[in-house]
Amino acid sequence: MAEPTTAAPLREDAAPIPAAGASSPTPTVQAVLEVAHEAARRAGSIIKEGVARTLQIDYKGEGANDPVTDVDRRSEAAIAETIRAHFPDHRILSEEGATGGQDPRWRWIVDPLDGTMNYAHRLPFSCVAIGVEHDGAIVAGVVYNPLSEELFAAARGELATLNGEPIHVSTTSELRRALLTSAFGPWEAGGRRFDRARALGPHAQALRDLGSAALEFCYVAAGRIDGMGGSTLNAWDVAAGMLIVRQAGGQVTDPYGDPFKVDDKHVVVSNGILHGAIMARLHGASEALPPKDESKERPQPTPASAETGVSTAPAPLPASS
Ligand code: IPD
Ligand code: CA
Ligand code: CA
Repeated sequence: MAEPTTAAPLREDAAPIPAAGASSPTPTVQAVLEVAHEAARRAGSIIKEGVARTLQIDYKGEGANDPVTDVDRRSEAAIAETIRAHFPDHRILSEEGATGGQDPRWRWIVDPLDGTMNYAHRLPFSCVAIGVEHDGAIVAGVVYNPLSEELFAAARGELATLNGEPIHVSTTSELRRALLTSAFGPWEAGGRRFDRARALGPHAQALRDLGSAALEFCYVAAGRIDGMGGSTLNAWDVAAGMLIVRQAGGQVTDPYGDPFKVDDKHVVVSNGILHGAIMARLHGASEALPPKDESKERPQPTPASAETGVSTAPAPLPASS
């Protein structure tokens, strides 16, 4: 079922979120958003400082396509410290493993550096992304690229903003006029990311892979790009961005048209107008879509043949949406 487009984001006062039998006082959405800002600014200083010096780069797993730098870790430490100082009970899910309290209602979902590959190569397209979940719904999100001094933010029910000014998705209505990006994961086996690019690319004005899924969500929100597709993503890649796009009037679904949930790994994001056209192209490709129940785990490094796009293990086609 298609997700309704939030063409005109709802306004909602920053009223306290109702407590669910909690002992500690329940903060307002505005209060958590302010702390997310503070954490993002602290992380941003660390990210900026790292640009000017030699980085310590390690690799997760066996391959060379998942770098982690000392800046990822230092950024995460600063963010976690900020969250704990204000909300010691709140849980934290962060890419490099920081933890927080145990309050089941609140979860901070943190990518301390999204676009690490770009950052390690000195490409200035990276950010810190912080989403805040309350009772299973994302209620606040901040994405900050300190290298361009751009801070995207949204609170549930409020218009999304860029550096404090409201933003809105584009009005592009034809796929052939659309600039799309892909965050089709490098982890995928069987060359599926190439299938997806082949399915979509020739029908759009251009298809690019910018290397930071969180920023790409925000670029859709700001109308700079018209849509994106992502695969093998994790909650920290999407938590903040999915709220920011929706509060900018955009649409965020899984590849079957169902509303995207933070723990889903495949996403289609658009200005709403182009959503059906993007999904139709993805569905039209033989291996463009994964089975809906596919595991979220990253597969082991694939053989060279898979990386050339020659699939050795065809995935079953999904049921049509
Ligand atoms: C990555 C980026 C990239 C996406 C990858 C992510 P990281 O995050 O968001 O755009 O394609 O799947 O892992 O590793 O730079 O935090
Ligand atoms: Ca990421
Ligand atoms: Ca990261």
